Amino acid sequence: MERNILKLFYLALFFGYAVCYVSQTWQSYETIVIGLGSAGTTAASTLAKAGKRVLALEAQDRIGGRVMTVPFGDGVVELGAEWIHGTEHSRVYETAVKNNISVFPQDTSFAVYKSDGSLGNKELIKELLDFCLETVGHPPDKPEQLGKFLNKKLMNYIKEKHPEILSDQDFINEFRDLMNFIINSYQASNDWNDVTAQSDYEALEGNQEISWHRYGYKTFLDLLLNTYNNGPGWPSLEIKLNKEVTLIKWPKNSTGNVEVLCKDGSVYIANNVIVTVSLGVLKERALTLFSPTIPDRKLTVIDKLSIGVVGKTIFSFQRAWWPDVVGFILFWSPEDREVYKNDPWVLQLKDVATPMGSGNTLTFWANGDTAKLIETLPEDVVKSKMMEVLKKFLGKNVTVPEPTGMIRSKWYSNPFTRGSYTYDNLLKHDYPNARAILGEPLLDATGSPKVLFAGEATDLTHFSTVHGASESGYREALRLLPQTVE
Ligand SMILES: Cc1cc2nc3c(=O)[nH]c(=O)nc-3n(C[C@H](O)[C@H](O)[C@H](O)COP(=O)(O)OP(=O)(O)OC[C@H]3O[C@@H](n4cnc5c(N)ncnc54)[C@H](O)[C@@H]3O)c2cc1C
Ligand SMILES: *[C@@H]1O[C@H](CO)[C@@H](O)[C@H](O)[C@H]1NC(C)=O
Ligand SMILES: *[C@@H]1O[C@H](CO)[C@@H](O)[C@H](O)[C@H]1NC(C)=O
Ligand SMILES: *[C@@H]1O[C@H](CO)[C@@H](O)[C@H](O)[C@H]1NC(C)=O
Repeated sequence: MERNILKLFYLALFFGYAVCYVSQTWQSYETIVIGLGSAGTTAASTLAKAGKRVLALEAQDRIGGRVMTVPFGDGVVELGAEWIHGTEHSRVYETAVKNNISVFPQDTSFAVYKSDGSLGNKELIKELLDFCLETVGHPPDKPEQLGKFLNKKLMNYIKEKHPEILSDQDFINEFRDLMNFIINSYQASNDWNDVTAQSDYEALEGNQEISWHRYGYKTFLDLLLNTYNNGPGWPSLEIKLNKEVTLIKWPKNSTGNVEVLCKDGSVYIANNVIVTVSLGVLKERALTLFSPTIPDRKLTVIDKLSIGVVGKTIFSFQRAWWPDVVGFILFWSPEDREVYKNDPWVLQLKDVATPMGSGNTLTFWANGDTAKLIETLPEDVVKSKMMEVLKKFLGKNVTVPEPTGMIRSKWYSNPFTRGSYTYDNLLKHDYPNARAILGEPLLDATGSPKVLFAGEATDLTHFSTVHGASESGYREALRLLPQTVE
């Protein structure tokens, strides 16, 4: 009896010591990565692979940030990033290929439906659309609003190639509205005239719409973290979810560690931190997140850069009931515009697409103020209006069934994103180095980087993409590694 108690005592002592010992070793880290989206995951895994002790703090209950694959329909759908944009030198594409994951291009076939249920002039619309998208790649010499620039070029093209439609002002108006919508879907802008025609964005070579289909985009993050197929992860990387960071104390005119405070009261210490929160989160929190406050030049660019909203509402059905094309362009007639004049957001439903990860689902794309509004409207309102629109456009020869499920993105309402991705606005010309300044590290008195910044918005040419976010995470990890690692 006595001996047993003694044994228990020693056992307790041993475990107590072990726990103390372990927690002590892990109490301080070389680097804390804040946010586990594509940038944070790349930074954390690059450092951990190089043997650094890393703690990653993620506010949400999942890894991925603006990459968000959800089981839905008969497979998976993407509420965030959908495609790998380009293959040459793409970190995303290369990660898939290296791991023998076959990702493939999504077919881009589409049909044009009019609001009276008849088919639109697909050939003409495709020709004009291709012309406009091609023209975006040949910007003017002087700064100009993208919408004004495109509209001018478009009208010249129509005069030259299709003078017969010049008299059809309704068609031209609706096509212009469609083109504005498509530009906003690419840029996450609210209006094509908020975007500069001289954007710094550079597309990677290769197909622009490669899909992770039934694997889901989140596979990219699993591969980076070495957790795909129940992989063991990286031994020196510790991940904590549901950890909202509220304050980063950094040594400005001194030296020493960085202290990271979380909403739940926990405090973590590291030699340095990498902040990967979105531009939207920085706009909201830049003044409260750092102590001492970050330099004015950084506050200024956080204010001047733009992040916009792209959103999706996805419906599942018993089975696929629609014609066999990937996308449906909805072309509104003036009469039907009149019908919805009190619900103008409905008129901004112009693109319905079939995602590649699920066979029985349809996605309504939205952007700008419309996307923001859809996030806040009651679910039954969104559902009934969207179903009404589907019936109106696609229901002429088929009976449109009731959906079996509905899911929508909330990138603007989400306090940990506050937007979808960044674009080059008209202020770009007054603040040409804004993205570089956003990505500058904060140094201590000896010039060591203490607070580093990564994230989509900090990439000079591939902002707005997963690839760009990942590049930025890699860039900041390398800043902390003495020699180049793989
Ligand atoms: C609808 C939509 C469609 C898109 N389509 C594509 C596409 O087809 N192809 C493409 O390449 N890109 C696409 N993108 C863009 C792409 O998703 C982003 O550029 C990229 O995922 C951004 O990664 P990031 O790491 O910079 O930021 P995020 O993914 O936002 O990561 C930041 C992380 O920080 C966390 N965080 C925020 N605040 C705190 C805090 N206080 N404490 C702790 N953690 C915090 C967030 O929860 C988040 O996980 C799309 C985005 C959206 C929204
Ligand atoms: C990918 O496939 C090749 C050829 O079959 C094989 O040699 C390689 O080990 C595989 N790589 C991974 C990561 O599975
Ligand atoms: C509906 O069917 C008619 C008759 O077959 C056809 O002419 C028309 O193009 C079809 N409409 C659509 C939208 O498919
Ligand atoms: C260093 O910072 C402290 C606190 O922020 C401040 O009181 C002090 O004046 C600063 N010293 C110098 C030399 O800037």
